[in-house]
Amino acid sequence: MKFFIDTAIMDEIREIHAWGVLDGVTTNPSLIVKSGRDFREVVSEIAELVGGAISAEVTGLSAEEMIAEGRDIGTWSEHIVVKLPLTPAGLQACRTLTGEGIKTNVTLCFSVPQALLAARAGATYVSPFAGRVDDIGWDGMELIRQIKEAYVMGDIGTQVLAASIRHPQHVVQSALAGADVATIPYKVFTQMVAHPLTEAGIEGFMKDWASLGTQQDSAQ
Ligand code: E4P
Repeated sequence: MKFFIDTAIMDEIREIHAWGVLDGVTTNPSLIVKSGRDFREVVSEIAELVGGAISAEVTGLSAEEMIAEGRDIGTWSEHIVVKLPLTPAGLQACRTLTGEGIKTNVTLCFSVPQALLAARAGATYVSPFAGRVDDIGWDGMELIRQIKEAYVMGDIGTQVLAASIRHPQHVVQSALAGADVATIPYKVFTQMVAHPLTEAGIEGFMKDWASLGTQQDSAQ
């Protein structure tokens, strides 16, 4: 399973990119606002740094608006993936942009029927929002598992991008459910890497290593 980071904050992207584990970045209008940066400027900077797949979302609501925006956003970088909402207009825009060779991420997916429609419209990625499904008392990970199963059964090439990830177990469960990608917030990356036994192990090794110097000093 590939890892994207779900943020538009450059410091967060730089840090996780430096770990050598990043395959792409997802943004959305809320994340762009949170970054405090100009949309095109920040997305272009992300694309230059990370490469991979950089999702940038349209904000128009009609198919015509989404197609026009998608065509423009698609010129910002070869790494751009145009993010479109899972609405009738979004599906129409997905079909048109896909036909023009622009990569697409159909977002705000909350059901298997929606995911099947996104795939038929030619989406490169579909983004089921696991955390938001959990929030309303349903099972976000079961949704991801069912979408993946339906895609495998139908020999569908659209990649399942597990989104709205809230904690490390969501990442584990996404991998076990067969998601192709998980888009992970910065905080969850830091939670994933941390383990008290790793910290304790380093402390023990360093203490023993330091005592070697002391032993050599006293042997002289
Ligand atoms: C996906 O691409 C979205 O940006 C994101 O995962 C939404 O997550 P949230 O539910 O935490 O806002």
